[in-house]
Amino acid sequence: MAGSIDKVVLVTGASSGIGAATVRELAAAGARLFIGARRGARLQALAEELGDAVAWRELDVTDGADVAAFADAAEARFGRIDVLVNNAGVMPLSPLAALKREEWKRMIDVNIHGVLNGIAAVLPRFVARGDGHIVNVASVAAHIVVPTAAVYCGTKHAVRAITEGLRQEHDEIRATLISPGVVATELGHDITDPAVATALTGWRKKALTPDAIARAVRYALEQPAGVDINEVIVRPTAADM
Ligand SMILES: NC(=O)c1ccc[n+]([C@@H]2O[C@H](COP(=O)([O-])OP(=O)(O)OC[C@H]3O[C@@H](n4cnc5c(N)ncnc54)[C@H](OP(=O)(O)O)[C@@H]3O)[C@@H](O)[C@H]2O)c1
Repeated sequence: MAGSIDKVVLVTGASSGIGAATVRELAAAGARLFIGARRGARLQALAEELGDAVAWRELDVTDGADVAAFADAAEARFGRIDVLVNNAGVMPLSPLAALKREEWKRMIDVNIHGVLNGIAAVLPRFVARGDGHIVNVASVAAHIVVPTAAVYCGTKHAVRAITEGLRQEHDEIRATLISPGVVATELGHDITDPAVATALTGWRKKALTPDAIARAVRYALEQPAGVDINEVIVRPTAADM
């Protein structure tokens, strides 16, 4: 149903994959969107495709000051913030013994600190107003652990714990964890281990398209104020993991 989401929604990691699909889905549902990622040209193209209801700003979620400025710019543009979708993430998988410490750090910085920076940017507003909704995109990796994904799974388990803590600490704020199974996106383009890159190609033979996750986000946002969709797991029907 068009026009069902009369809200201002911030989406991080909106330049590709699940983030871009979520922006399209929510724009079609009537939301106003402020979208961020590092690749501004992609954001600009998406905003031009969708019209005045979508505004964009380059964003690095690992930089807390930049995320705060992103939220300020969204409020300046649309007058309020109702929802933050913490979607930005990276997944350079490798076995622990490869000691790819820079890649571990990048996953922790983007997948955990990025989510915390997002929460910090909107939580004081939501507490002051007495409502708000934070949607964190985790993964089935928040629920399971598989070889080569120890650090990635660690970051997503952390996002799950943080989301549950947010829910428990704030009666007035909705907290939603969306956990996709395998989705065909650009995620993992930065895997430097050739064997893991080959394995990812195999996993992607049973993959959702990003719109499937976007619909789960829309479902959570469409609920009335007293209803909090806490957790959604969305896998391909034929999924192995
Ligand atoms: N695809 C899957 O199978 C799958 C499964 C489970 C969970 N997920 C999760 O879904 C989320 C979206 O991933 P995706 O699959 O759509 O992959 P994707 O196409 O690679 O998108 C990732 C997004 O994150 C953004 N990003 C990365 N680092 C960033 C940073 N430092 N600051 C701001 N934005 C940053 C990227 O934009 P820029 O590069 O332009 O900054 C991009 O827009 C991630 O949290 C991922 O872990 C994906």
